[in-house]
Amino acid sequence: MNIVLCGYMGSGKTTVGKLLSSELNVDFVDLDQVIVETEKMAVSDIFKEKGEIYFRKLENKTLKEVISSAENRIISLGGGTPCYGNNMDVLKNSGETKMVYLKMSVEALTDRLFEEKNTRPVIAHYTEKKDLQDFVRKHLFERGYYYLQSDLIVEVGNKSPEIIAKEIVAALN
Ligand code: S3P
Repeated sequence: MNIVLCGYMGSGKTTVGKLLSSELNVDFVDLDQVIVETEKMAVSDIFKEKGEIYFRKLENKTLKEVISSAENRIISLGGGTPCYGNNMDVLKNSGETKMVYLKMSVEALTDRLFEEKNTRPVIAHYTEKKDLQDFVRKHLFERGYYYLQSDLIVEVGNKSPEIIAKEIVAALN
């Protein structure tokens, strides 16, 4: 079985993915990291130099390759992955795959993302926290349609990544 982690930017997909991988002793794949290695460029530079459409096409191609070659892995997606093209179909039709949504509140996401926005091209231009929060609220509402189709929804709240990983293992067993 593959476990696929989805959720908004800053929800902890990579951190929880790595913990799940060592807990379950299976390989971990970070979709953004595969893209960075393929392009030999940071995600923010791909957006800047080649544009978002180029990134989304590459994201779709990389997702298909990773999913078709994966059997027993933890895969963390980018925040936008389930929401573009036929990615949701790819995920749903990929054999035994459990999709897990790491759900966080708009306020908690905004607090986290405001500190780290420079590495994230979708939000890097927000200089006021309030504007970022308004954007996250609207964006999360739109993306929720996709995230909420997951097999398991985990409320992140104040839980540590270790507790979240344990919760996922228990729920999927
Ligand atoms: C994106 C999220 C990023 C990365 C890209 C686009 C998005 O991944 O794929 O910057 O559209 O939400 P993280 O969720 O890991 O930050």
